[in-house]
Amino acid sequence: MMEVEKIRQEFPELGERVYGKPLVYLDNAATSQRPRSVIRKWTEMSEKYNANLHRAVHRIADLATVEYETTRDAVRKYLNAAFREEIVFTSGATAAINLVAFSFGEAFIGAGDEIVVCEAEHHSDLVPWQLLCSRKGATLKVLPVDDGGRIRLDLLPGLLTPRTKLLCVAHISNVLGLVNPVKEIVNICHSKCCAVLIDGAQGIVHARVDVQELGCDFYAFSGHKLYAAPGTGVLYGRRELLEQMPPFMGGGEMIGTVRWSGSTWAPLPQKFEAGTQNIAGTPTLRPALEMAEALREPAVQASYDEVKKIILNKLQSDPRIRLYGEPDATTEKVPLFSFSVEHCHHEDLALILDKMGIAVRSGQMCAEPLMDRFGVTGMLRASFAPYNTPAEAEYFTTSLDRAIQMLAG
Ligand SMILES: Cc1ncc(COP(=O)(O)O)c(C=O)c1O
Repeated sequence: MMEVEKIRQEFPELGERVYGKPLVYLDNAATSQRPRSVIRKWTEMSEKYNANLHRAVHRIADLATVEYETTRDAVRKYLNAAFREEIVFTSGATAAINLVAFSFGEAFIGAGDEIVVCEAEHHSDLVPWQLLCSRKGATLKVLPVDDGGRIRLDLLPGLLTPRTKLLCVAHISNVLGLVNPVKEIVNICHSKCCAVLIDGAQGIVHARVDVQELGCDFYAFSGHKLYAAPGTGVLYGRRELLEQMPPFMGGGEMIGTVRWSGSTWAPLPQKFEAGTQNIAGTPTLRPALEMAEALREPAVQASYDEVKKIILNKLQSDPRIRLYGEPDATTEKVPLFSFSVEHCHHEDLALILDKMGIAVRSGQMCAEPLMDRFGVTGMLRASFAPYNTPAEAEYFTTSLDRAIQMLAG
């Protein structure tokens, strides 16, 4: 517990009060809080290293470029990617997925081809594929989840045909909190020559990611959910594929030569990094990854496990509550809980909890087809981070009881 209290001191926002009450921040799946080390790096980049990257010969430009490229090395190491060229910086997971939808789509998807997405996908890993399919005359197929929110892996082999070129799936669902069997999915897909994109927006926060071990073709995530600055993100792509894909955007720095007769492209990863990049934000990924490591310390994880136990006990034992995303012997659940409460609208509950100092999310969670799957218009979501304490978890459960009492009697 001591360790967690010490770590909390590093996150200034966690010391804030709302309506005179200590903030209990349980909306980490939307965006996490930022540690001082990240804020320091962000400020330092603006105060000392503010110059455009790669182009100029002057000293400040050189220092800014070193910060940026050192960050690429750190991300490569963190993901255990084989080559630094496989790490493309983007403005977030959405931008990374759209990059693949456009560029992989241009290179490999034609009329009559098929793309598979999971029924639980975030709109960011669904709408880009709808757009691609309508551009190309391709077909979007859906891999369903069962009533517990677990992927129907048994249905996957039957969905894949020689026309299936790509499958897109979240590592961890932002609604269900379940860790999807991504390695098995990759193995099945690769045995049928189908590439796999993993939406790691939540996965990178909770799971250890080794892209070589996973064997995936693409892995996308945002910095802001992993303690870094907003507007930062990463696309990992297998080099062989990235090399065959055309640029997503044209502009400065992504070119080899530009003539009226046509242009050539810069080598990877610059081919996919057109225009001025997030000079101040991207280097914050370095301290952010260090924080992610620190939060994996056993003492912090023990406290986090305790948080999970407290919330799961409450949500699974209260007959008024329906929890979405049920763990079982083979499916792990991270401390991200979406649920509904009978006779209570999710937004009313969220508003009452807010007045108690608790920040939670309510609504469709950018996963409308999944809401339809469960026959609801929205849910309430409490998503925890390792800096949340068991005391906060207890406060949440008693506050939830009070809120339900107010609404349902
Ligand atoms: C699973 C998942 N995918 C994609 C996204 C999109 O991330 P961003 O808005 O940072 O691009 C989110 C954000 O909530 C998410 O949870």
